[in-house]
Amino acid sequence: MRPRVFVTRPILDEGLAILADACDVDVWPGDLPPPRADLLERLRGVDGVLALLSERIDAEALDAAGPKLRVVAVHAVGVDNVDVAEATRRGVLVTNTPDVLTETTADFAFALMLAAARRIPEAVDVVRSGEWRCWGPKVLLGRDVHGAEIGIVGLGRIGRAVARRAAGFDMRVRWFDPLASGDAATTPGRCDSLGGLLAASDFVTLHVPYGPATHHLVDDAAFAAMRPEAILVNTSRGPVVDTQALVRALASGRIAGAALDVTDPEPLPPDHPLLGFKNCLVVPHIASASLATRAQMSVTAATNLVAALRDERPRNLVNPEAMGRR
Ligand code: DGY
Repeated sequence: MRPRVFVTRPILDEGLAILADACDVDVWPGDLPPPRADLLERLRGVDGVLALLSERIDAEALDAAGPKLRVVAVHAVGVDNVDVAEATRRGVLVTNTPDVLTETTADFAFALMLAAARRIPEAVDVVRSGEWRCWGPKVLLGRDVHGAEIGIVGLGRIGRAVARRAAGFDMRVRWFDPLASGDAATTPGRCDSLGGLLAASDFVTLHVPYGPATHHLVDDAAFAAMRPEAILVNTSRGPVVDTQALVRALASGRIAGAALDVTDPEPLPPDHPLLGFKNCLVVPHIASASLATRAQMSVTAATNLVAALRDERPRNLVNPEAMGRR
């Protein structure tokens, strides 16, 4: 019998083809996540689930799937939507899609930084609305990125890729990693504290995974430590920033601006205060959204899933402790 797999929303064909070769595949149709009741229903009796970051795979979802479930393959590098500890306890493997999205996400963090610094969204609006009259020496003055001080919070794969780009812009790079791994310690530019990094940076860019240790890492105290000319860039996860504190920081002019690929909540309701600030650029969680990278993510997630169902060790296994627990 072929294993049964549920895919929580259509992914790119490259990944679906890999799944279809090896499994009976049920794909939730449409662009929106399945409502919770439908998700639980479709999970019943599956051997594997390929989940997007919007689907919460917790104890209830694992219960709904039942004892046949062997793998949760996440179509993202961040796995904060999965209760990994609970999956591990049950011997369910969890995989993710690192590496393939590193450069694309770093490109996008840089694009956000440039767009916010040089006020590109505001400039586009001025042209579209017919307000553009003529060239002017004081029109839409922004901030230089080249030669500025950049503070990278989280020096993992994506943080390092941002640092490489920053070097090309002659930026001075500083970093702080609240979850520092051993090898990062030898990289120059290390700050001993988040406060020290924030006080020294014109641009602060976030590249930490989300979890209890990084929940609201950027809060009122962090904004108080930032320079008034600083711009915050977030391509990690929304709740790494305390949204209310960010609203206060923008409203009071405590910082110069923000550029957010991720928000809390996500999506933001159209009347959310963050959308009322001209100096707050918000885009819909698309940092990894290039054609090539999304194809690679689908292939990586599908390959991980199929490997697990063949009792092989998936390349991107998040919880090796779960192996052999069943
Ligand atoms: C991830 O991979 O975690 C991103 O947020 C989506 O690509």
